[in-house]
Amino acid sequence: MKAHDGFTGKIGYVLAAAGSAVGLGNIWRFPYLTAKYGGAVFLLVYFILVLTFGYSLLIAENCIGRITRKGPIGAYRQLCEGQRSFLKSVRFGGWINAIVPLIIVPYYCVIGGWIAKYIAALAFAPAESFTSAKASASYFTSFITATGSPLFYFFLFVAVLIGVIAFGVQRGVERFNKILMPALAVLIVAICVYSLFLPGIGQGLAYYLKPDFSKFSAMTVVAAVGQLFYSLSIAMGIMITYGSYMRDDENLVSCVNQVEVFDTLISFFAGLMIIPAVVVFGGEKAAEAAGPSLLFVTMPQVFSGFPCGRLVGIAFFVLVLFAAATSAISLMETNVQTISQELKTSRKKAIAFVVADTLIIGTITVLGYSVFADFHPLAFIEKFAKYDILDSLDFISNSVLMPIGAIFTVILVVAIIGLPKFSEYIRSSGKWGREYLFQLCMTVFVIPCLLVILLYAVGVIK
Ligand code: PHE
Repeated sequence: MKAHDGFTGKIGYVLAAAGSAVGLGNIWRFPYLTAKYGGAVFLLVYFILVLTFGYSLLIAENCIGRITRKGPIGAYRQLCEGQRSFLKSVRFGGWINAIVPLIIVPYYCVIGGWIAKYIAALAFAPAESFTSAKASASYFTSFITATGSPLFYFFLFVAVLIGVIAFGVQRGVERFNKILMPALAVLIVAICVYSLFLPGIGQGLAYYLKPDFSKFSAMTVVAAVGQLFYSLSIAMGIMITYGSYMRDDENLVSCVNQVEVFDTLISFFAGLMIIPAVVVFGGEKAAEAAGPSLLFVTMPQVFSGFPCGRLVGIAFFVLVLFAAATSAISLMETNVQTISQELKTSRKKAIAFVVADTLIIGTITVLGYSVFADFHPLAFIEKFAKYDILDSLDFISNSVLMPIGAIFTVILVVAIIGLPKFSEYIRSSGKWGREYLFQLCMTVFVIPCLLVILLYAVGVIK
């Protein structure tokens, strides 16, 4: 997708935005966070927040893009022009939004590499590698704590992305997307149905669907907010950019609704596919101990019980790889555009910069499980002292920078554009059911909640 040519109609927008939104966030990140933070309680908090917070920010960002027809930095700059000193500094928010994807891309590609590895693993590893939870976990651990193999798969994933971006074949990829994304959705639902027949599934389903409020903590909310930013691709400039491509006569409200619903449904089913199975295999303790490895430890084990499990497993990871690649491309493309526009360099130089960022930070992240295993970037905060490099990058971008970016967006809408004018603009594009909710979120809830979350996340409030 090029900066100027816009989308051809609603379906073009919805597919592109959903292609960007649906990715590892839904299939890798959502299930492990849900398992870790108490199952159904997390699910409930997440749903409530998506329908209120997430929705408000999603529609706000798209609308900012549509009004200004610019990416995040340009949009902020244009809207803040002519403001007095304090409000003028809101411009800075554009940069925060633009920097986040530079942090996310490298570790996103590391996980992309893990997915690629698992395609090979399901094809070639000995059968007993995944038949028990213990074997599956130790297979994963020995993979990431090596140096050569995870680096190789990381480079492979990045190389493919560079190829797509450098040769500008996104259009082709997007066409694939239209077939493979629904295929992924169908396969996930089919795996869910299969796992409903696992013996002892009742307890697992209860963990996922029946809230146990004793498991609620402030971290549930912090994690859910971080996840909704990540999954809906908000607070990182992407939706501003996508909104800027949307045609004027398009119904903004219903476009945004569709992206929200589709993304959330995929997350819900990804959770249903994986969390009850974890509980069946290892009990609730295993679910609560879950981390970034969950997808890679549990899914191969699920597949090893399948008839033709290996083949289904390979198909699954291929589809996930595709979803990850389309999201990563949209992330990288945003970085390339921001850098070439703001630093006024050629596209080639901007690509070189983004690739260097990805390779350097990504390599350090991969080595965070081996050479730098004793390095904990957040050691100065007690709660996060044990976080490895990947967890730390994830935390800094999702739970710290994104809330800050979102606070700026709210200030932009409320104090600079003005809520009545902004609402009027959205209303003019189509029937708007959640207008009141939107205004309530923007004026009363979002900023105070995000501030509390931020202070809690960085350990100021305990
Ligand atoms: N939302 C994507 C996911 O869930 C991640 C992403 C964020 C992709 C921002 C593009 C832009 O995986």
